[in-house]
Amino acid sequence: MTYVVTENCIKCKTMDCVEVCPVDCFYEGENMLVIHPDECIDCSVCEPECPVDAIFPDTAPGLERWLKLNGEFAVAWPNVTTRREPAADFKQFIGVPGKFEKYFSPNPGQGD
Ligand code: SF4
Ligand code: F3S
Repeated sequence: MTYVVTENCIKCKTMDCVEVCPVDCFYEGENMLVIHPDECIDCSVCEPECPVDAIFPDTAPGLERWLKLNGEFAVAWPNVTTRREPAADFKQFIGVPGKFEKYFSPNPGQGD
C-alpha cells in the first residue's frame, strides 16, 4: 500500500505535505508533487496536511491512473523535503475539474 497524490495538487502545490513525511518520499514536478510508491511507509500523516485534499491511500476507489502517474514521475522528478510558498494564484485552481488535461506538466520541478 502507498499514499497517492491526485489531480487537485496540480497548479495548487502548496507543499504542506513535504515537511511531515518521515521518509522524504515526495518528488517535485513543475506544478504538482508525487509520492514514490515504493518508499512510502503508509504512515498517513501527509493526508490531513494537504489543504486541498489531494492525497489519498491507494485503497480508495478509482485511483489507478494516479498510482501509475506517481510511480512514473517519482523516478523522473527531484526529491523535495523543504516547503516553499505556493504560487500566488493557487487558490483559483482548487477543485477545478479537468486540471490534468489542461495543466499537467511532465517537466521536473526545482526540488531541494
Ligand atoms: Fe510520507 Fe507517510 Fe505520506 Fe507516505 S503516508 S507519503 S510515508 S507522510
Ligand atoms: Fe500538493 Fe497538497 Fe502536497 S496540494 S504539494 S499534495 S500539500
